[in-house]
Amino acid sequence: MISRNDPCWCGSGKKWKKCHFPQISFDQLKKEYLEKYQIILKTVEEIKKIKHSCKIASKILNILCTYAKEGVTTNELDILSKKLHKEENAIPAPLGYGNPPFPKSICTSLNEVICHGIPNDEPLQKGDILNVDVTSIVEGYYGDCSRMVKIGEVSEEKNRVIEASYECLMRAIEICKPDSKIYEIGNVIEEYAKKYRCSVVDQFVGHGIGLYFHEPPQIPHHYNNVDIPMTPGMVFTIEPMINIGVKEAVISKEDGWTARTKDLKPSAQWEHTILITDKGHEVLTL
Ligand code: MF3
Ligand code: CO
Ligand code: CO
Repeated sequence: MISRNDPCWCGSGKKWKKCHFPQISFDQLKKEYLEKYQIILKTVEEIKKIKHSCKIASKILNILCTYAKEGVTTNELDILSKKLHKEENAIPAPLGYGNPPFPKSICTSLNEVICHGIPNDEPLQKGDILNVDVTSIVEGYYGDCSRMVKIGEVSEEKNRVIEASYECLMRAIEICKPDSKIYEIGNVIEEYAKKYRCSVVDQFVGHGIGLYFHEPPQIPHHYNNVDIPMTPGMVFTIEPMINIGVKEAVISKEDGWTARTKDLKPSAQWEHTILITDKGHEVLTL
């Protein structure tokens, strides 16, 4: 039996799957992905809208990050985020999301906070590291991205965990293309985290996105066996949370959201929304 990756029988030198392999239509594939995995493959029209919301989210994120300086509070960043969303006719997706309803328009995760930090009135201090996470809804479509900011000079460990999480994200994006498997993302991230002597959080995952905030599939950042093949029209986030110490997260009993490292050592995260294309991938939140 000839397999998908064997040379095509026609002698073109191309793989069978890239040549005379019986092609199935996008509509058929869309139906198959929905039934088999509950994944919504996006149409060309939907992709246009999602690209637009991703551009708005990353624009707002960039502005917020230039404002995050010593003495500024994360509540001030939240107020600015609300103003910027209004100016773009966009809605900040976190506000009122989930249970208990998330109380602010962005997540701000400081130092040992892994994710889902709630903006507050504490001024940022020299030596802090901060993740700002923006999810914007524009004309009903979602874009999601986050990045790290250093407040002044930061410790060797904080620099290392920021670099580790950034490299994990970018290396994982590189392998995204049709027929790559979702589990390959976790393999790459674990490999690079190890290189930086860091651990990979497994209690939170990336996610499909576009028509809703969190769609299937889950995108684990740790070793896993999700063997779903990537295919054109898939839109999902990759958002590795990387720790200096242990990987375990503890969620605050007070607010039901703030996730801290169990050992209170620093954590860092970067996030992009990715589209799988015929040729490979496109990072939508640049
Ligand atoms: N933006 C986060 C993510 O990357 C989710 C935040 S949920 C919230 O998936 F309610 F805290 F906003
Ligand atoms: Co996300
Ligand atoms: Co996010």
